[in-house]
Amino acid sequence: MRERTVIAPRLLDWYDRHARVLPWRVPPGQGRADPYRVWLSEVMLQQTTVAAVKDYFRRFTTLWPRVQDLAAADDAQVMAEWAGLGYYARARNLLACAREVAARGGFPTTREGLAALPGIGPYTSAAIAAIAHDAPETVVDGNVERVVSRLFAVETPMPAARPRLRELAATLTPALRPGDFAQAMMDLGATICTPRNPACAICPLTGDCDARAQGIAAELPRKLAKKPKPQRHGIAWIGITNSAVLVETRPPKGLLGGTLAFPSSGWDGSDLPPPAPADWRDIGTVRHVFTHFQLDLRIATASLDRAPARGRLLPLAEFDPKALPGLMRKAWALAFPAGPLPPGHDG
Ligand code: ADE
Repeated sequence: MRERTVIAPRLLDWYDRHARVLPWRVPPGQGRADPYRVWLSEVMLQQTTVAAVKDYFRRFTTLWPRVQDLAAADDAQVMAEWAGLGYYARARNLLACAREVAARGGFPTTREGLAALPGIGPYTSAAIAAIAHDAPETVVDGNVERVVSRLFAVETPMPAARPRLRELAATLTPALRPGDFAQAMMDLGATICTPRNPACAICPLTGDCDARAQGIAAELPRKLAKKPKPQRHGIAWIGITNSAVLVETRPPKGLLGGTLAFPSSGWDGSDLPPPAPADWRDIGTVRHVFTHFQLDLRIATASLDRAPARGRLLPLAEFDPKALPGLMRKAWALAFPAGPLPPGHDG
């Protein structure tokens, strides 16, 4: 790293010309962004790609243009609209946060005030303070960690390097346009300083980058070998009648909490019986990777003619597989690959 003070102006100059156009973004130099839109996008973007988030963001802001609208929304509708984005605790916290913000009359403007709200951690509070309020906060996500590890040629493996990368990132944050700077760092990481094959030849910071000078940019940040994820097993039962499908809403706490699901056994060895007596047929297995384990979920289907002991019969006319989380969508697609209505179903 030769001269730190030139980094921010150089990067902002690049951002003025190359900023990605994103539905939640105010283009460079065109004023401050709405904190509601910044908050919503940042919560959606945690653990999820920009490409996956765009349509969800548009749909949420069309349905609920202001935080007061989201605060007044029906919980089940919000969970259904979130389905497919994953990490469902985010959706539950989203509603809790919207309600708290609406009750207090708007978003706090400081990082500390924002961090006191449900579901808003250090990253999101810094991002909202910087992007919506132009506060000189340092915003460090995975993209920024990669950029900083390369600029300063930090060879300590992740995650041990994290505190050092945060300190170094803070030395770059400018007093002017910190919000644009934060977004510029993210864009640089997403489009040029990419994990593999970084495009150093067209990088605005190529002459400032220690890793580039040492020829090790693509190797950073170093990572310790990952432990394989534990394997878990379970079974889910898809029961249908002529006009309905058996579903349940998962308990609010825990995995896929609050989402629409087919009844299933525990996924940790705990056993639950089928939700209804029926001639259950095993039709195969779907695999899903969660943060801390991998799940093989056997799927059984049956035609139901007796009342279920668990769950509720949802009329097929009201059943939209898109309202299911990814795991359950896979299960439904395995059972009924031809489409949303089971073969032979008459409406
Ligand atoms: N990833 C997370 N937040 C982002 C933002 N505000 N702009 C672009 N990418 C992002």
